[in-house]
Amino acid sequence: MDKEIKELQEAISKLKEEKGAVILAHYYQRREIQEVADYIGDSLELSRRAASLPVGVIVFCGVHFMAETAALLSPEKRVVLPDLEAGCPLADMATPEEVRLRREALGHPLVVCYVNTSAAVKGESYICCTSANAVEVVGKLPEEAAVLFLPDRNLGAYVKGFYPQRAIFLWPGYCPVHEGVEAEDILRLKELHPRAKVLVHPECKPSVVELADKVASTSGMVKYVRESGAGEFIVATEKGILHHLAKVYPEAKFYLASPRLECPDMKKITLEKCYKSLLTLEPRVQVPPSVRERARRAVERMLRL
Ligand code: 13P
Ligand code: SF4
Repeated sequence: MDKEIKELQEAISKLKEEKGAVILAHYYQRREIQEVADYIGDSLELSRRAASLPVGVIVFCGVHFMAETAALLSPEKRVVLPDLEAGCPLADMATPEEVRLRREALGHPLVVCYVNTSAAVKGESYICCTSANAVEVVGKLPEEAAVLFLPDRNLGAYVKGFYPQRAIFLWPGYCPVHEGVEAEDILRLKELHPRAKVLVHPECKPSVVELADKVASTSGMVKYVRESGAGEFIVATEKGILHHLAKVYPEAKFYLASPRLECPDMKKITLEKCYKSLLTLEPRVQVPPSVRERARRAVERMLRL
């Protein structure tokens, strides 16, 4: 391993101890960040973890809405995001004003927001969900209630497929990274690796989801690899997950569905920035009290399920 990387990782581990901090990292983070993390997970696991950990400082290596969700659930903890510019274009596709207008126009359906939203949008929502539990969350809502699902139209369409009889309105948002995968990418790889199982994140287009052996959140994919008994996988989600999969299942083969599966925002978090954040405990992510209570209600409703 590169000497500079190793030294920086050692310095981070030492500083982490001194500051009593915990590093949470999403599966899409760079390999060297995953290596210093105390916990790696999907957005649902990380928000649960952030809420339950008995520590004062959380360094969140992910994107802004993830750190914000952690701060929302644990306002007493200091949650730092090593680069405040690490955002999520999908989350930016819905604003609280737009949600209020749309909700009114549709006659006040129950708003289900994907965790990839700002705290202000969560505050306008009845319940939150992640890609790991969206189908279950919608299934728990009263059958007669109309639903406005936002902001991801692809995850929304996937959920709607489970409840064809329900009124589910979709928001026109999408993840630019996952939308980049085409059905042809999968078919080409299938031809090269006919025995490979196809794992697809529900943020991909319906034409790609249709080709999946398993549609799952990032941790759902890890679980499927463990349980399927297969040896080869075509993976249609951000490439960072391959570091974790290759490390945990070195005998299996993983093929990234498309070279476009790289999230530039996730990659804004570097070891240097992580080190600096631990040193200064900045930049802190906080949710103003005026938004916090309403947003928290939506997230806690989900966590109670
Ligand atoms: P997961 O909920 O599967 O971790 O995905 C988060 C995300 O940002 C997907 O692009
Ligand atoms: Fe947002 Fe897509 Fe990046 Fe996930 S992969 S953080 S949804 S832009």
